[in-house]
Amino acid sequence: MRNTLRGQDFINLRDLTPEQFRYLLDLAHTLKAEKRAGVDQRRFTGKNVIAQFEWGSTRTRCAFETSCHDLGIGFTYLSNSHVGIQETVKDTIRVFSEMYDAIVWRSQGPEKFMYEIADYADIPVINALTTEDHPTQMLADAMTLEELWGGAGSCKGKKMAYLGAAAIEPLWYGRMCAYLGMDLYVIGPDLYDHKMLPEYIEELEGLFAKYSPQNKLVISDDPNLLEGMDVLTTEEWEYTNSSTGDDHGYDCWMHYAKELTPYRLTSDLMKYVKNPDVVVLHMLPSLHNADHKLGQQLLEEAPDQASRDLIASGLEISDEFFEKHASEIFREAGTRQHTIKAVLAATIGC
Ligand code: CP
Repeated sequence: MRNTLRGQDFINLRDLTPEQFRYLLDLAHTLKAEKRAGVDQRRFTGKNVIAQFEWGSTRTRCAFETSCHDLGIGFTYLSNSHVGIQETVKDTIRVFSEMYDAIVWRSQGPEKFMYEIADYADIPVINALTTEDHPTQMLADAMTLEELWGGAGSCKGKKMAYLGAAAIEPLWYGRMCAYLGMDLYVIGPDLYDHKMLPEYIEELEGLFAKYSPQNKLVISDDPNLLEGMDVLTTEEWEYTNSSTGDDHGYDCWMHYAKELTPYRLTSDLMKYVKNPDVVVLHMLPSLHNADHKLGQQLLEEAPDQASRDLIASGLEISDEFFEKHASEIFREAGTRQHTIKAVLAATIGC
């Protein structure tokens, strides 16, 4: 297949065709095999990438940085520039366009900010996460499933369930499922704060109708629908309290704990799933235990023993279920490198 992504931005999966998504996955599989075989991948010597992360990142930043090293691309991680402080974003992007071959940005702002950057830039802009999409993560999840299920095309007809706090991430997974020919079941509490916006649902219904009319998008609070699922996933229960603005304290993580607990990923869920081969993914980080600063803070602020027990044993996924599926989850983290390398190689131009 021909590379039609050269010089293109990579902001939202809905901007791609299923063929372009397939091209990136095939390239990622090839690049991983090459790396395993010890092939020198420095095909982009003399190229440079600039990265700006407005939020913390472990996997995405490391994947971009190591991929650039492997491809022979120089990598600048910007941590203290004038951008937005005493220089406009537009001016900064025009400077980047003079010196670099691609811009990687993780934005705290809405996705339209990424498109504004792209308008200012003469070089590809790559989305390292916005609320509206995490396209490099979706490529990685697709690659992981293909590796586990037998290669290109093996996802077709499979069923994915997204459980829990389901306002945002199912939108990203829905695009992936529509491109791969998978069903997506979004199973979570019937709570306004944890349901996708109507415009998100409308977009996904349109994508399924266009690319995978044989597949289903199901949104429900009924865990009985989980029977026969091939893959389960979830995300942290992080929630911004719109009245207090709290997006990191105890209330942010525990506000809806009672309502979300029935949708935790645990071994108990298998009574509904009834598929011993089910794959479990988690894009990470995960609050599967409390052995970190945030966990300790939540334990200290917990009002009762039941809350402490829940926090210690894992919120969105229990510690025992996480460890049972750790090989799948950390394979998924590893595929971030090969899929991000494919995005760099395709957009910069191979
Ligand atoms: N999954 C993911 O994007 O991880 P980071 O936030 O660590 O990059």
